[in-house]
Amino acid sequence: MKIRRIIVALLTCTLMVVGITGCGSTNSSNQSQENTPTQEKTDSSTSSEKNSTKNNDTASEGKVLVVYYSASGRTKAVANTIVQTAGADVFEIVPTEVYSDADLDWTDDNSRVSKEHDDKSLRDVELTSTTVKNWDSYDTVFIGYPIWWGIAAWPTDTFVKANDFKGKTVIPFCTAASSGIGESGTLLAEEAGTGDWQDGMRFSSDVESSEVAEWVKGLEKEI
Ligand SMILES: Cc1cc2nc3c(=O)[nH]c(=O)nc-3n(C[C@H](O)[C@H](O)[C@H](O)COP(=O)(O)O)c2cc1C
Repeated sequence: MKIRRIIVALLTCTLMVVGITGCGSTNSSNQSQENTPTQEKTDSSTSSEKNSTKNNDTASEGKVLVVYYSASGRTKAVANTIVQTAGADVFEIVPTEVYSDADLDWTDDNSRVSKEHDDKSLRDVELTSTTVKNWDSYDTVFIGYPIWWGIAAWPTDTFVKANDFKGKTVIPFCTAASSGIGESGTLLAEEAGTGDWQDGMRFSSDVESSEVAEWVKGLEKEI
């Protein structure tokens, strides 16, 4: 009887230890498998929600607007620094058919971007929206884009062609691996046909936000 009680007690202890350890490891593995991606998802959805909120409900009081297209996030980072430094509103240019990594592979002659580069008629990229709420209230509009083959990535052109820049100061900015801003701003200004377009600024793809902020602070006359 005594031996039986000891065996039962030992078995109970073993089961408790296995149970606790097992539960512990299951929980921690669940956490790393579920919580981390969920956190990332939450972060990115929060940021895109913020963007879409800004896109649709741009504050009417703001005098400065930052419009940008970014295929892989470099120009977006610069745009966000301008937004914070200038206290500006923001509008993201989003192609209806977003460019995938394969689409952006300029080393592949058959990629979407290579075909569009080779045939101008394919560059008329449709956007999810070209309409900025309270557009007339903005005096200064920054327009940002990555450089593609020496010029502004063409989703930017669709936005520029669709809007009237009359009475606005327009400040182009771009990010690029090695090229300068070149004629990209001038070409966009020609397409717009209106607006007081400035020379603009080129940033390296991996520019520090402090460099961008310094540039914005030096634009006292323009903004
Ligand atoms: C299709 C394509 C063409 C590019 N052409 C140039 C170029 O002519 N000169 C250059 O310096 N960088 C070029 N780049 C690099 C981008 O301009 C650079 O990585 C930019 O910072 C990307 O900005 P994003 O992350 O906002 O899209 C090109 C990139 C792509 C995808």
